[in-house]
Amino acid sequence: MKLFVDTGNVAEIEPLASLGVLDGVTTNPSLMARVSGDPRETLKEICRIVQGPVSAEVVTTEAADMVREGRELAAIDEHIVVKVPFTKDGVRACRTLADEGIRVNVTLIFSATQAWLAAKAGAAYVSPFVGRLDDIGATGMQLIREIVDIFDNFEFGTEVLVASVRHPIHIVEAARMGADVVTVPPAVIEQCFKHPLTDIGLERFLKDWEKAQAARA
Ligand code: G3P
Repeated sequence: MKLFVDTGNVAEIEPLASLGVLDGVTTNPSLMARVSGDPRETLKEICRIVQGPVSAEVVTTEAADMVREGRELAAIDEHIVVKVPFTKDGVRACRTLADEGIRVNVTLIFSATQAWLAAKAGAAYVSPFVGRLDDIGATGMQLIREIVDIFDNFEFGTEVLVASVRHPIHIVEAARMGADVVTVPPAVIEQCFKHPLTDIGLERFLKDWEKAQAARA
């Protein structure tokens, strides 16, 4: 399962990229709104750092405008994946952009039928939002299971990109279900690195080693 980070902040992306475990980045208008400077320059910089798929979302709502904006975004860098919302216009734009060889990530997916229609429209990725479903009392991960099953049955090339991840359990469940990608906020990636037994264990190893060295001196 590929790991993407869900942020538009270069300062958060750089240290993660240097770990050697980051496969890509997803952004959305809310995330990009938090970043100062020219968004196109930011996207270019993110692509340079990550050298993998970087989702950049359109902010128009009509198909023709989304296609124009999508082409402009795709021209920024070969790593850009154009993100469009799941609407009829978004699906139309997805089909047009995909036919032109531009990779599209269809976002704001909250049902298996939406994912299926996006796949039929040639989406490279679908982004089901698990956390936001959990927020309204549904089970976000159940949607992932359904989409993975459907895509497996019909051999769609579309990748299931689990989004709106809130905690490491979402990551574990996504991996067990066979999702292709999980996009994770930096704070949740940080949580994955922390385990008190790792810290205690390391402290003990180093103390024991120092004690032995002192005894030999
Ligand atoms: O990038 C889309 C998605 O990951 C947003 O997550 O936490 O705003 O529901 P969230």
